[in-house]
Amino acid sequence: MIRPVIAVHRTAEEAEAAVTSVLIETIARKADAVLGLATGKTMIGIYHRLVRAHRHGGLPLARATTFNLDEYCDIAPDHPGAFRTYMRHHFFAKTNIDPSRIHFPAEGGEAAFERAIRIAGGIDLQLLGIGRNGHIGFNEPGSSLTSRTRKVHLTPMTREANAEDFGSLERTPTHAMTMGIATILDARRVILLATGAHKRHALADAVDGPVRAGNPASALQRHPNALIVCDSAAAAGIEV
Ligand code: F6R
Repeated sequence: MIRPVIAVHRTAEEAEAAVTSVLIETIARKADAVLGLATGKTMIGIYHRLVRAHRHGGLPLARATTFNLDEYCDIAPDHPGAFRTYMRHHFFAKTNIDPSRIHFPAEGGEAAFERAIRIAGGIDLQLLGIGRNGHIGFNEPGSSLTSRTRKVHLTPMTREANAEDFGSLERTPTHAMTMGIATILDARRVILLATGAHKRHALADAVDGPVRAGNPASALQRHPNALIVCDSAAAAGIEV
């Protein structure tokens, strides 16, 4: 069994800085890097730091290609809760990323999305968060480890966690498009950021428990180049 490397930092800020450094190094080494991107509260600090590095440090982004992990179904692309809106607001609109190099999974476009990843040469670095139930992307517990990009049903826990972006639980979408677990594992390097005590059970189970569909993040144990970066609160339950 391959074990992901786990880096525990004292604070969330230090963990964010460490993840941002890996992204910056990847882009500095390869200006046409292919990045797999995540959204969610955990990632806001990452995009803030990347934008700062772009504006003040000259981080080149014009030739980078991006593939976001997921997007809700049945909402307009400019809906305030859409991940496209999140990415535009926190990252894309503040950089010179070429809009034609930005990709999101869309209903009916699953095969085209997977093909676009292959044509781009595969993902160099995939950024991941983790849900309280161990989900990565929107691969909820029970997702097959061989799953590819597809439409999924969101669990009540995930909808509740994201309800504030939609005003109420009732208005929160029930379905989403997500890269599959196998799609994620195809990336040459994977980096998962987990911060906060509310992630400690899912994280401990993902690294100490067996690889199983019940905790999708446990699939990272199968990846030869996975790095898990967390703060001490999220790491509190880890034994190994
Ligand atoms: C979002 C995504 C999700 C989040 C996860 C954690 O693109 O892929 O798996 O990473 O739900 O979300 P936060 O960071 O809001 O706790």
